[in-house]
Amino acid sequence: MVPAMPLLPAALVNRLLPQLRPLRRGALASLVREDIFDFYGRLLHPQLQLHRVFARVLSCREEGDSSLVLTLAPSANWRGMQPGQHVALTVDIDGIRHTRRYSPSVLPGGQVEITVKRQEGGLVSGWLHEQAKPGDYLELGQAEGDFVLPATPPAKLLLLAAGSGITPLLAMLRALRAQAYQGDVVMLYYGRRRANLAHLTDLASFPGLRLHICLTGEAPGDGESSGRFSAAQLDELVPDAAERRAYACGAHGFVASVRAVWQARALPALADEAFTPPVWQAADDLPITLTFARSVGQLPGRTGSTLLEQAEALGLRPAFGCRMGICNTCSCHKRTGAVRDLRTGLVSTEPDEAIRLCISAPVGDVILDL
Ligand code: FES
Repeated sequence: MVPAMPLLPAALVNRLLPQLRPLRRGALASLVREDIFDFYGRLLHPQLQLHRVFARVLSCREEGDSSLVLTLAPSANWRGMQPGQHVALTVDIDGIRHTRRYSPSVLPGGQVEITVKRQEGGLVSGWLHEQAKPGDYLELGQAEGDFVLPATPPAKLLLLAAGSGITPLLAMLRALRAQAYQGDVVMLYYGRRRANLAHLTDLASFPGLRLHICLTGEAPGDGESSGRFSAAQLDELVPDAAERRAYACGAHGFVASVRAVWQARALPALADEAFTPPVWQAADDLPITLTFARSVGQLPGRTGSTLLEQAEALGLRPAFGCRMGICNTCSCHKRTGAVRDLRTGLVSTEPDEAIRLCISAPVGDVILDL
């Protein structure tokens, strides 16, 4: 239960949080139960938590025709981020926690800006678009990921963004602008329609940025290009691509096509990140038995899909975030059985191990602590 009005002011709570270090790591840590501390802390203020980070929604605004921009004030428990990293955002919908990952920007005042594209049928994106409002508190994870610029930014950059892939690249651009970066940046920004493209106004204000808009679902306007990313388009728009340090972010298919061109041409290192999972291919699709030891017990399963998909199809609601093996949100204890990591094809038969449900397919009968 959280009081309608916090009993402590946010400023006081955020001065207090750094003073709790001895309770987190010092000799007193073993005397403090986090769940109990958090329960009573929450009664005083939603951000008074031992480790967890809650961020207050400061504003919500629409961006493009399908994105919502949330400006958040995280508690002092948040450790900050490097531009390009991602964070977990957790919301409570009808008593069930749901986590998704976003690539925010940190604004000059320390606020965190998150762009949420509305996904067709997307539970969390739909909820945020319709329900989030200033004054709400959302749970934020610590930043993760190595899709970041080097400490000394390269003199020539090429940024390739498709759809929501703009968000980590925008965070990098904003950081470069704050450093008064004098280098040469070219960006190719892909979307189905111009109205889908978020943050065009901000991009237009970035000094020296050469922005090429590439539309895949409607006729291009003046100065715009049409069609998906290809080697021919790269040659036409960025003839000096080989001299640039490149960063690409978008759906898995977009990133795979960029990577293929870089590999075929042996271009210099490419940093890339996909925000949608690849389509996992299991080796076969045979019947097996799945045991969800803490919930529904023994049920028929298949070797042809991930344990996360199968658990969801059976009505279970395991926590998940990225669905591509990055965030560890879906980590689950496997008691026995063999599972295949669909990213690498490797099979693990170890008993009592932690597995990620989103990238693990059963190879035989499996017993899970779920
Ligand atoms: S949901 Fe992120 S690792 Fe499985």
